[in-house]
Amino acid sequence: MRTPQRLVVAVTDWWWAIWRWVDAVLGPPLRGGPGVRVADADTAPGTSGAPASDTAAPVVLLPGIYERPRFLRELVAALRAAGHDVHTVDRLGFNRRTLAASRRIVLDLLAERDLRGVVLVGHSKGGLIGKRVMLASERVIGMVTVCTPFTGSRLMRRWLARTDLGLFDPTHVDLVALSAERSVNARIVSLATRWDEMIPEGSHLDGGLNVTLDAVGHFRPLADPRVLGVVCDHVGRLGRQPQEQAVRIIAIAIVAANGVIGDGEKQPFEFADDWARYKAVTQGHPMIMGRGTHDAIGRWLPGRTTIVVTRRPELVTLPTDGRATGYAASSVEEALALARTLDDTIYVAGGGQVYREAWPVLTDLDLTEVHADAEGSVTFPDVDPAQWREVRREPREEFDFVGYERVAPTD
Ligand SMILES: NC(=O)c1ccc[n+]([C@@H]2O[C@H](COP(=O)([O-])OP(=O)(O)OC[C@H]3O[C@@H](n4cnc5c(N)ncnc54)[C@H](OP(=O)(O)O)[C@@H]3O)[C@@H](O)[C@H]2O)c1
Repeated sequence: MRTPQRLVVAVTDWWWAIWRWVDAVLGPPLRGGPGVRVADADTAPGTSGAPASDTAAPVVLLPGIYERPRFLRELVAALRAAGHDVHTVDRLGFNRRTLAASRRIVLDLLAERDLRGVVLVGHSKGGLIGKRVMLASERVIGMVTVCTPFTGSRLMRRWLARTDLGLFDPTHVDLVALSAERSVNARIVSLATRWDEMIPEGSHLDGGLNVTLDAVGHFRPLADPRVLGVVCDHVGRLGRQPQEQAVRIIAIAIVAANGVIGDGEKQPFEFADDWARYKAVTQGHPMIMGRGTHDAIGRWLPGRTTIVVTRRPELVTLPTDGRATGYAASSVEEALALARTLDDTIYVAGGGQVYREAWPVLTDLDLTEVHADAEGSVTFPDVDPAQWREVRREPREEFDFVGYERVAPTD
């Protein structure tokens, strides 16, 4: 974005925030509302309503600094409409305390209400408090954050460093210590806007699931229906219990007779029948692919969730048009962990590096075995008959569609 556009975003965002702040202070506290099944009088203090669904995870809302729960009222309404029991932490007040003191307050609330299987939803500083809580409590299964400065904001240096906002100084001891703790990051979804005037460096969380929203600013996205939809999707996903049934992890590839699958930029064969089948079988399932393959395809495949594996997930431009869903993961392991929360059928779509890294956990191979050799340096791993049993073969003129199941574990 150019400077004049940024100026407009910053001014409108702050104008919205000031009015919202006044409303949050002077307006009635959050009570009752859509999705509530009990009378307000029966609602525990600071609870915004009983669950509309017995299966949706309880949510604890953690606002940003100086924000009261009412500041996030559209978010509360959206989460309630999705069936969640939304708890606010009124004792946080204007949320000016240290991370350690705030964590204590939230831990006490979780214990007092005996909440379990909780998903935290944090805005800005709320996400930092939430991460501290996750490090100390098994009651929390995950967190979704909106515009949280996980690595601080350079704007909060100099004189601001001596105010409450000094917590966001990238060199602040609490922030540096929190960044060093990575054990819970894989259970955090960090939502960032395309440009955030409060955090120009963005909200990237190493090892977390980083999603760039089709929105700008730091405050107004809290009332944007598209952002609310993304938050609810991720809260729902995190709240679902791990699948009990076995997960199938299937490598899908078109392979030349000599094992070649590509030259590093493209694959050697294109058959209309094969592409149509590929589209049909992968439709609706998560697909894991290396950054090389993602670049080779050149677009996000519609109707599927693509998880791109790269050592630089922050450089991946995620889809925003709603036709495809995409994530960037910093390892095959992280991509598999995410995919397992989405489905019990997962496709590994290459290329050569990613097939090899996923090889030990693959349960099935779905191969199009071409009858001709091809030129290229990227190959499919050897299919050892001692480890893989052919369970299906559908011959065509130029190739066979072949299915294999693993019969023996890898060494
Ligand atoms: N015939 C087929 O069915 C088929 C299917 C798929 C692909 N292909 C072909 O295969 C070729 C691409 O394969 P490739 O082996 O060169 O590349 P690739 O496996 O698609 O991607 C490699 C990239 O993935 C990332 N990566 C791999 N392991 C990682 C790890 N452990 N942690 C983090 N990131 C990791 C790295 O991205 P960064 O460099 O960003 O860190 C790495 O450069 C192309 O020619 C493509 O057309 C063919």
